Amino acid sequence: MTKRFNRFEQDPVIPAKVGIHKLRSTVSLECLNMEVVGTITEVRAAVGRARNSGRTIGLVPTMGALHVGHVSLIERCVEDGHFTIVSIFVNPTQFGPGEDFEKYPRPLDADLQICQEHEVDLVFAPAAADMYPSENLSWVNVEKMTSSLCGRSRPGHFRGVATVCAKLFNIAQPDVAYFGQKDAQQAVVIKKMAADLNFQMQIVVCPTIREADGLAVSSRNQYLSSRQRKDAACLYRALEKCKSLVRSGTTDSKTIIAEMTKTIEAVPSVDDIEYIEIVDAKSLEPLAAVTQKALVALAVRIGPARLIDNILLDAPDD
Ligand code: PAJ
Repeated sequence: MTKRFNRFEQDPVIPAKVGIHKLRSTVSLECLNMEVVGTITEVRAAVGRARNSGRTIGLVPTMGALHVGHVSLIERCVEDGHFTIVSIFVNPTQFGPGEDFEKYPRPLDADLQICQEHEVDLVFAPAAADMYPSENLSWVNVEKMTSSLCGRSRPGHFRGVATVCAKLFNIAQPDVAYFGQKDAQQAVVIKKMAADLNFQMQIVVCPTIREADGLAVSSRNQYLSSRQRKDAACLYRALEKCKSLVRSGTTDSKTIIAEMTKTIEAVPSVDDIEYIEIVDAKSLEPLAAVTQKALVALAVRIGPARLIDNILLDAPDD
């Protein structure tokens, strides 16, 4: 069966009117069993049909520009046997002023191809007007844990993320939603939100997928020049440095962070180390020493890209 789908833009600002999908082109794809929809009504209808035929529902929320990191979540969802929904939505409410909302890549045709190849059942690619039909006055604010790490330099970011995820959970009503460890703080925040607000679903966090040199795969890596791309491997080198220090008995966070800072500062393309922090993996509270399950997270600016990465450490005496 050949299914036709509409390729539409997501508007840079939340538009006032509902259901305006700016039609850029119409592409035909051999979608086989994959459905591509843009409206909430269509998602609900498809989910209803899937449930009636006895399927459980798995959701993989994304902003598109799909890569092997996203694919690892999709594969896990499909392997787990769910009716697999991938949402593709560059969510305006999680971008701050001056961030990359406008230039965020939106290769919808390629994304649909990837979804099709990986046996996704339903792609939900709404326009901003479908997700935010009128001025949004209701927000999900996960307190405390959103003010550290990335939250410090991106005020409002996690409010946007938590709000859009709550909306997606309410729209798709999944049994399971899949997130990547790559965005560690996001995963912790979403888990907390789902628990606090009694979403009847499971949040699964999948491992970070990396390039050969250790750089975490990210849609934002494509902003880097080849020199900057090479230098970007310093984030992973710093995390490896941390691991080897802990293995050899260094547990003091300040000492570890100082060594990691040296590793990154030695790299010419690095413009700014935004943070390197060692925090409790659940509460995201700072840890003076690696004495319990710790998250080591960092954000570094290299040219036009703000790169983040992290590792989870077990306490040395575990
Ligand atoms: P996006 O950046 O597109 O990421 C979608 C999901 O893919 C997230 O859960 C992210 O952690 C995961 N992911 C990205 N790169 C990964 C990698 N290298 N390895 C493993 N997983 C990876 O995160 C968002 O979108 C948005 O904030 C969203 C949750 C969709 C809300 O708008």
